[in-house]
Amino acid sequence: MDWQSDLDAAATTFADLLAGWYEHHKRDLPWRHTRDPYSIWLSEIILQQTRVAQGLPYYERFVKAYPTVQDMAAAEEQELLRLWQGLGYYSRARNLHQTARQIVATRGGAFPDNYHDLLALRGIGTYTAAAIASFAFGERVAVVDGNVYRVLARIFGIEEDITTTNAKKTFSALANRLIQQAADPATHNQAMMEFGAIQCTPVAPNCLFCPFQQNCRAFLTGRQHLLPVKSKKQPVRERYFNYIVIQQIDAAGKLRIAMKQRLEKDVWQNLYDFALIETDEPVDAFRYLADDETSKEVLRHGFFSGVAEERTQLLSHQRIRAKFWRVTLRPDSKMSLIGGLKFYELAEIEQLPKPILIADYLK
Ligand code: ADE
Repeated sequence: MDWQSDLDAAATTFADLLAGWYEHHKRDLPWRHTRDPYSIWLSEIILQQTRVAQGLPYYERFVKAYPTVQDMAAAEEQELLRLWQGLGYYSRARNLHQTARQIVATRGGAFPDNYHDLLALRGIGTYTAAAIASFAFGERVAVVDGNVYRVLARIFGIEEDITTTNAKKTFSALANRLIQQAADPATHNQAMMEFGAIQCTPVAPNCLFCPFQQNCRAFLTGRQHLLPVKSKKQPVRERYFNYIVIQQIDAAGKLRIAMKQRLEKDVWQNLYDFALIETDEPVDAFRYLADDETSKEVLRHGFFSGVAEERTQLLSHQRIRAKFWRVTLRPDSKMSLIGGLKFYELAEIEQLPKPILIADYLK
């Protein structure tokens, strides 16, 4: 069928094929059994961060810890960040918390029941508002995310660069036209997400067993791997983090490690790490860090033990190359800690929200 000549007919065909596919291939996922906007919101925020398999245990833990938006609003941010640990992009977790508080403070805990009012909430964008409005309230509004861009770009042969604002309008208009023909908007949106996630995947889509084979512009022209068009990403910024891991074993034989909360507007805001010296270049010996106040102080009170351990973490636009320089203080030394550092025992450290790179190092 030529999609362009008769869009209404095309939309009907599309919606029917998609619904048929979904009926046979959908996964049984917990957030598909609820119409509670709070649980749906939670699941969508988690799934923006990670894949279904990794997101599932987080979803279960969050719903258990905070069964209602009131429970989440009443939680300590630190506890919430600890539950979020490993998902990355911690500003999402902080926004989640703030929004829960906003809903409780200004709306008595009641979620808005339509797309327009959902959008007005902090941290809820067009995608999340559409997901909640359709899944919880059956509103006929299309979800548009990376999955949807990919599916539509391929099936309809759209060559627009998906990083542009204009593309957002194009795809959103098309998706909203398609959902008009769906029997049930909630199922249609779930089906779009599911189809992008398990059938029309970024690499190696399953075209051989695809119901759209004869309607897919990309398949018919052998362009699946070229669509969607996405311009080159921003270059990755390289950062070198030198962590001084200050540890001390007290008279009772208890190990303590100095940590601090990251309060700056930077990666990992509000999470805990160690004394940090960031450098423009990799540092390959502890003495090159000796200008720093903390390292000077540390060397007066203890000794650098062995070689540094290295770990790297790739964030969306930066690569953090961390070295951990472990320094052991003498048991009797009374080093004064600066820059917000405080000693914590291991059991306390376990409870602190930490970047995954730090948590892994501590293991
Ligand atoms: N990814 C984002 N939202 C999803 C959902 N509701 N189901 C499956 N995968 C998703």
